[in-house]
Amino acid sequence: MSSVNIGVLISGGGTNLQALIDSIDKGYINGKIKVVISNRKDAYGLVRARKNLIEALYINRKEFNSDIEFDLKILDELEKRQVELVVLAGYLKVLSKEFVNRYKNRIINIHPSLIPSFCGKGYYGEKVHRAVLDYGVKITGATVHFVDEGADTGPIILQEAVFVDDNDTVDTLRERVLEIEHKLLPMAVKLFCENKLEVIGRKVIIRD
Ligand code: GRF
Repeated sequence: MSSVNIGVLISGGGTNLQALIDSIDKGYINGKIKVVISNRKDAYGLVRARKNLIEALYINRKEFNSDIEFDLKILDELEKRQVELVVLAGYLKVLSKEFVNRYKNRIINIHPSLIPSFCGKGYYGEKVHRAVLDYGVKITGATVHFVDEGADTGPIILQEAVFVDDNDTVDTLRERVLEIEHKLLPMAVKLFCENKLEVIGRKVIIRD
């Protein structure tokens, strides 16, 4: 089976990107990261990409008149590299309808909670874990899902729970959830690359 061309969008540290890079290097994922694109110039994920000889682009939103033009530029960079799967790994912008439709059920996002809890507009990064602790839930976790036109609303691929300890802080909880993210995201990408994910309405069926 030929390997799947992957494009990864980031905005920050890129630890999920690193988990993908490592999984591919180990032969766990039948894919190749063709490009890493960041909307933040200082995203350390760009450094991670370059260290692994992966093309890394910073695209400055301020150089475009609208979000759609910005998205079209990203789409152009992806399509000229024949990208088949887009992975959002800590990417903090909501994609336009045009983008989502161009890559329908071929965009995978990782979110640091058990969707539909603590997700959607304004819930990203540490804000998610802060809300989890403030609410007092006993269980949180991570979710990998396909991206649709909403924010964190697409069909769920994989989830795993993480127990919240009474003395957890945002930092300790984030670390434990990140460990799960670094397992679930490569697992979901692997299943996609092996053509084992079937979307039926809101459900994602994993085919053996
Ligand atoms: C992670 O919690 C991820 O779930 C969220 O962004 C955070 C940072 O991810 N989407 P990374 O270290 O930049 O991969």
